[in-house]
Amino acid sequence: MYVCLCTGVTDQEIRQTIAEGAASVEEVAYCTGAGTRCGSCVSAIAALVEEGDAPARRPSLRMLRTSAA
Ligand code: FES
Repeated sequence: MYVCLCTGVTDQEIRQTIAEGAASVEEVAYCTGAGTRCGSCVSAIAALVEEGDAPARRPSLRMLRTSAA
C-alpha cells in the first residue's frame, strides 16, 4: 500500500528502511523521500516508525523477572 502518494513510497519500503536502522520520520524521509513534499503522510510514517520501535522498547520477560527478583 502506498503511504506517500507524492513520492510513490509504500509501507513495505518504509518498514524495510526501519528494519535497516531508520529510527525517525526524518531518517525515513532521508532514505526514501517519503514525507518530503506535501507532508500529509508524515503521521502515517510516524506510526510505522513507532510500530517498528515497539519491540525494542518493550522489556523482555527475562528483564522483568530479573528486576522483580
Ligand atoms: Fe507524502 Fe505528500 S503524500 S509527501
